[in-house]
Amino acid sequence: IHDDGLAAIKNATDIKSIRENIRVKLLGKKGPITQALRGIKDLAVQDRPKVGSYANKVRDDLQAALDAKIADLENKKLNQQLAAEKIDVTLPGTPVAKGHPHVIQSIIDEITDLFLGMGYEVLSGPEVEEDKYNFEMMNLPKNHPARDMQDTFYITDEILMRTQTSPMQARTLEKHDFTKGPLKMISPGVVYRRDTDDPTHSHQFHQVEGMVVSETITMSDLKGTLELLTHELFGNKFNVRLRPSYFPFTEPSVEADITCFNCMGKGCSVCKGSGWIEVLGAGMVHPNVLRNAGVDPDKYTGFAFGLGPDRLAMLKYGVSDIRDFYLDDVRFLSQFN
Ligand code: PHE
Repeated sequence: IHDDGLAAIKNATDIKSIRENIRVKLLGKKGPITQALRGIKDLAVQDRPKVGSYANKVRDDLQAALDAKIADLENKKLNQQLAAEKIDVTLPGTPVAKGHPHVIQSIIDEITDLFLGMGYEVLSGPEVEEDKYNFEMMNLPKNHPARDMQDTFYITDEILMRTQTSPMQARTLEKHDFTKGPLKMISPGVVYRRDTDDPTHSHQFHQVEGMVVSETITMSDLKGTLELLTHELFGNKFNVRLRPSYFPFTEPSVEADITCFNCMGKGCSVCKGSGWIEVLGAGMVHPNVLRNAGVDPDKYTGFAFGLGPDRLAMLKYGVSDIRDFYLDDVRFLSQFN
């Protein structure tokens, strides 16, 4: 029993079967050793200690072998498990999809950085605006025919969704303290027009307004500033051309063209053969605009411009539908990461 038991224990490979079979068979209540110990009382008195101590020794040996085997198997199992579940901390992690600024915001940020560096203030204004700032103070009294240039979402007779960032000209002129120095500001933001959305129209788009007013501003400051902006945004190969135009709040008014992105000035279908692409409206601040805001037009002059980042992005990246910027399709937007 002793040797067979030890051999059985030695060959066992499974903890469960050691506990449930081998131990029960060898050391259980019906097992040979329990039986032998029970039978001692029937033996001759002088034989009892010998048989008893031998049976105890067999029981202890088997018990010790069982304990050792179980411990050994448990240890092996644990090692296997540790090996299987080992974590390689040097493996690269699972990448987490990271967002990025919207392409229009990136262009606005670039423009903002440039003007900040030249000492301009960066201002934001209300999108729900008063008729007074959006039109009246900008030299567009009620019933002025040029109001038709900008189809307007009216909320009441006096409140509207701003059609342009130009009301920020009136708002800043009204507040500026010229004894502290010239007014230099840009104001990026969203504007609204009552247009039916199509590839080139969106009822909501962006503008960046710019204005500089002091005792000495001339039209060459405007041209120099627009040239600098163009060179910074697109590179020195791009030129700026001013064409006469009309805005109620500037006199003279111009539209600024830059070298066509597509053909670099050679003439193509994008620029309709001209080599130039219109990118913004600008001009010298109209005396009435200064006067309406309490600034003396005999003492101060200024330039102002309004550019459209949506259009710039479309031209720069060859996007043919402005609505793509507003549909939040990550497949489209992530191209500009
Ligand atoms: N506000 C004009 C527009 O939306 C652009 C502009 C701004 C023109 C400033 C001149 C000066 O069309």
